[in-house]
Amino acid sequence: MKKNSMTMIDNRTGKSYEYSILEATRGPSVVDVRSFFKDTGMFTYDPGFTSTAACDSEMTFIDGGKGELRYYGIEIEELATNHSYLDVCFLLSTGRFPTQEESINYDLEIRHRSFIHSGLKNLIESFPNSAHPMAILASAVSALSSFYFEHLELKSEEDYMEMKRRIIAKMPTLAAFSYRHSLGIPLICPDIERSFTENFLYMMRAYPGGKMHIGVDGEEKISSVEIEALDTIFTLHADHEQNASTTTVRGVASTGAHPYVAISAGISALWGRAHGGANESVIAQLEMIGDVKNVPAFIKRAKDPEDDFRLMGFGHRVYKNFDPRARVLKKLQDKLSDALELDSELIMIAREIEKIALSDPYFIERNLYPNIDFYSGTILYALGIPKSMFTVIFVIGRTVGWINQWVEFKKDESSKIARPRQRYLGK
Ligand code: CMC
Repeated sequence: MKKNSMTMIDNRTGKSYEYSILEATRGPSVVDVRSFFKDTGMFTYDPGFTSTAACDSEMTFIDGGKGELRYYGIEIEELATNHSYLDVCFLLSTGRFPTQEESINYDLEIRHRSFIHSGLKNLIESFPNSAHPMAILASAVSALSSFYFEHLELKSEEDYMEMKRRIIAKMPTLAAFSYRHSLGIPLICPDIERSFTENFLYMMRAYPGGKMHIGVDGEEKISSVEIEALDTIFTLHADHEQNASTTTVRGVASTGAHPYVAISAGISALWGRAHGGANESVIAQLEMIGDVKNVPAFIKRAKDPEDDFRLMGFGHRVYKNFDPRARVLKKLQDKLSDALELDSELIMIAREIEKIALSDPYFIERNLYPNIDFYSGTILYALGIPKSMFTVIFVIGRTVGWINQWVEFKKDESSKIARPRQRYLGK
């Protein structure tokens, strides 16, 4: 019997089976059950993958018990506080921080690739104005694969980098176009003079023709406070291990489909309110609660096992402690409270929910802490960003994670097509 192994005994027959334990550099080891079906004629059963590691990865590490998140070993607090989102994109794309020169060049390359083909613009304009920006975005990203079909065959490291830069650079443009189209207002092209995050705000807010709102002081209505806050939000969303949308991206990657089609599938998976759609649902729920005095009644509903009402922005499959991303955003919210109007009724309701839930035994016993969506929802609201764009903003931040997880899958020689089995209960 190997020392690094686990023995399983089938108590029906007394037969024993030995499986290797593979160590991880951080976090739980894994039991290698790849030969389980061949050995036993049975499947392992794990709906929702609560005990399943589906791949090896070097990118992102989460310790849900401690409330820790790292990209390439670096803590999220450090990344969000001391590095720009584009430097984090470079880190997730290469495994290291850029030199100063690389950082400047990467920024320029991203700016140059932010424009999109006019055919895609026509496609976006063909959607009904009532379409949700997420629906338009998922379709536009899928269509992007037809404009860059060559990315299906990636040969050199430079091919991979180019494919990644393109999707990262074009996502804010497609996102802003999707939003403007849903309002029925003319689309604004990227301004090459503006940085990644500023450009996104510009494309959302500029008047037709590209003029920015001018206040009485003659200042442009995009403040450095807003750019910094949104940049931090992008960094906090950049990657999150094997969550539902990333697992979707890897699943599509496993069939050999185009990388941008896989990202489009990831966008669709993210949209649901149990995942990225929660940030939009947080504000919708706060609006529904309507008044601080109504909070206790809704907390009561959230605790009632007969009621399927859940507090949006609370709980997480992996974090059984404060979500470290939420910790960063809570601090950011406090920092922004002077610069932005954070004392609106909705924010007051959010603060009351947070206060009650953090001291209520129901939430404490189940480790239900506020998650990233609880705070990003309220910060984006305070930034004046419409709630239909909240999950779209999650997409912009997460694109770098998805595409690098796609690449990691492609380069892993042990990768196979994703093909789980089932326990059949039919006739
Ligand atoms: N409000 C009230 N009760 C809750 C909540 C909530 N938000 N979340 C979980 N519970 C209860 C649940 O009813 C269950 O109670 P019991 O043990 O008595 O049956 C217990 O907590 C465990 O819940 P679960 O559904 O088994 O947990 P899960 O790991 O399958 O689900 C979750 C995780 C995030 C889907 C869930 O907590 C949820 O629906 N939260 C609200 C939506 C949300 O904020 N989603 C964003 C997640 S963070 C962003 C991201 O990474 O996508």
